[in-house]
Amino acid sequence: MNTLDFAKRKAAQKPISMVTCYDYWSAQVLSGTAVDCLLVGDSLAMVMHGFDSTVHATIDMMALHAAAVRKGAPDAYVIGDMPFLTTRRGLSRAMDAVQTLMRTGINAVKVEGEAGQADLIAHIVESGVPVMGHLGLTPQSVHAFGGHRIQGRNESQAAQILDSACRLQQAGCFALVLECTPGPVARRITAELDIPTIGIGAGPDTDGQVLVLQDMLGMNPEFKPKFLRHYANGCQLIQDAVDRFAQDTRTGAFPSLAESYA
Ligand code: KIV
Repeated sequence: MNTLDFAKRKAAQKPISMVTCYDYWSAQVLSGTAVDCLLVGDSLAMVMHGFDSTVHATIDMMALHAAAVRKGAPDAYVIGDMPFLTTRRGLSRAMDAVQTLMRTGINAVKVEGEAGQADLIAHIVESGVPVMGHLGLTPQSVHAFGGHRIQGRNESQAAQILDSACRLQQAGCFALVLECTPGPVARRITAELDIPTIGIGAGPDTDGQVLVLQDMLGMNPEFKPKFLRHYANGCQLIQDAVDRFAQDTRTGAFPSLAESYA
């Protein structure tokens, strides 16, 4: 996968798969899968660091995780999130953040929202850095939205998201994440754009799908929003394995002689 392949995949109607990845060992694991690209999402603030929103992700956090992912998956197409407010403090500071992220070896950055930053996004693109857009439920705006709520439920909201999507395409974004928007809205946006849309909670008619790795692996069995499919019972799987190790240690069944140095 390279940046130009995203548009080709849309033209060929071959859906794009993306999962989040935050660390070295899961990057190694994902390197052996058929997934098309990896997202070092700022959701790592919640999933890896236990914060209650992505607002707590910093550029240093993002860069540390992005560098680990690049080491674990040297050949993968990796996109890294520009964290909270890094695009809102002027061009120079935004470009410093872009530089920090790109120097970890990733391929592209993702920017949430469009309002007030289309020019900045165009500048990043003109500087040779591919930008993925992100509209709908943009989690960095969770407080403005009054919670993690579906966006684009009424006609004016839907029209606003569509307008923003067109402006992001015009600014040079190579792809667009649509998060938690009603299926018909995502379908309309997908049909209007030349660049691919990658949905999460946006129905089946986008040009690709993205999920948070730990969510799709069922690491938190209680977290099961409507849009999420658990592809594994990861939590149970790990607990069973660690319980067996603990039990074997207690009974002396581990290690065996074959697992010991003579
Ligand atoms: O940070 C993230 O994980 C994301 C995905 C949900 C698209 O932005």
